[in-house]
Amino acid sequence: MDKKIIIGSDHAGFNLKNKLIDFIKNKGIKIFDAGTYTTESCDYPLIAKEVAQKVASNEYEMGLLICGTGIGMSIAANKVKGIRAAVVSDTCSARMSRLHNNANILCLGERIVGEQLAKDITETWLNTDFLGDRHSRRVEMIEDL
Ligand code: RB5
Repeated sequence: MDKKIIIGSDHAGFNLKNKLIDFIKNKGIKIFDAGTYTTESCDYPLIAKEVAQKVASNEYEMGLLICGTGIGMSIAANKVKGIRAAVVSDTCSARMSRLHNNANILCLGERIVGEQLAKDITETWLNTDFLGDRHSRRVEMIEDL
């Protein structure tokens, strides 16, 4: 895969972020780490903003955001025009968020999903393409809201 991917987390997602970076790099995929870089408490909207803006501007094609639940990251990222961030805790939703919703940011909660499940979700999400067709119309309708 030659997609450009960016990842970010707050302190509550820091450990899972590092594990996913290794997991993704081991597959030969390049990934940019937008922080945070320590376990010191920080504000997730700042990281969500940076990652979301870089995906919305097409500097990166796909983004991953991790916090305690994934919820705060998704709420913040979805404020950026052009972002479709999906909070996912299972592989079926991961696949569907790409097939039907063309999600361009995956949000995970380190306090919600275990390491292996997070890896399975990430792999599924990165390897699934948007179906287009009737779903394109609906995604465009979201964009116009
Ligand atoms: C941090 O304590 C926590 O609120 C944050 O990581 C996230 O879960 C928010 O949605």
